[in-house]
Amino acid sequence: MRILILGGTTEASALARCLAGRSEFSPVLSMAGRTSDPRPLPIPTRIGGFGGVEGLAGFLAKERIEAVIDATHPFAALMSRNAAEACGRMHVPLLALRRPPWTPQEGDRWIEVSAMEDAVRALGEEPRRVFLTVGRLELPPFAAAPQHTYLVRTIEPIGKALPVPNVIAIQDRAPFDEAAERVLMERERVEIVVTKNSGGAATYPKVAAARALGLPVIVVRRPEKPRGVEEVASADAALEWLERRHGRTP
Ligand SMILES: NC(=O)c1ccc[n+]([C@@H]2O[C@H](COP(=O)([O-])OP(=O)(O)OC[C@H]3O[C@@H](n4cnc5c(N)ncnc54)[C@H](OP(=O)(O)O)[C@@H]3O)[C@@H](O)[C@H]2O)c1
Repeated sequence: MRILILGGTTEASALARCLAGRSEFSPVLSMAGRTSDPRPLPIPTRIGGFGGVEGLAGFLAKERIEAVIDATHPFAALMSRNAAEACGRMHVPLLALRRPPWTPQEGDRWIEVSAMEDAVRALGEEPRRVFLTVGRLELPPFAAAPQHTYLVRTIEPIGKALPVPNVIAIQDRAPFDEAAERVLMERERVEIVVTKNSGGAATYPKVAAARALGLPVIVVRRPEKPRGVEEVASADAALEWLERRHGRTP
């Protein structure tokens, strides 16, 4: 069974590991190519955009794909939309593998906003020390608030993405650890955290550390994903779905 996994997430990599060595499945994992040295995985990988809905539909036909797992990040809205449209057009079954969002816990001081520009405004006029963990590509709107000091953590170097006077840039990638997050926030005298509501365990420690330190967190809500697509929350559940479909294939 030819399977396309749309990846770039921990869940996609976990599913890739589940499928490796299973002779009844022939998976290919696709990544956008935003990270220059993605961690190697034990299944064939392709990198780069498909060229919109048309390009993806062409890929599905050429590679004789029989099922697509959309395991992209909850904030990768365009890819999910394209996948829904291309799969619908080509009559290829589609499953979304999506981690549930985080929800506020007792003691959390969340300020929820719907867009990155709203997060910038929510920081306020007074200069603050901000822990900015929204990803390199989301930094430019924060240039509109140059009065703050930004502790920015990204996987890739930020280059000129945040042209403000006070930036402390660190490069690191998940999974993170709550104790280490607390040490970092205390050392850098962080006053407020900005994050997307990514969900999942790997980047949650910053939220837990902020709660422990009594710090407010600006949480950017998820964008809309296409409706009507069957959804599961774990790689194991996606594997079961594939096994059921494979059982039905003549
Ligand atoms: N957005 C985030 O916060 C975030 C965080 C962590 C990881 N990621 C991962 O980073 C990648 C890009 O995210 P994004 O938010 O920029 O996506 P996006 O806005 O939804 O997609 C933009 C374009 O990137 C290409 N693309 C996206 N995901 C792809 C994939 N898995 N394989 C091949 N092409 C892909 C597609 O190009 P074409 O139209 O040319 O096909 C798509 O139209 C995704 O793989 C996502 O899972 C995103």
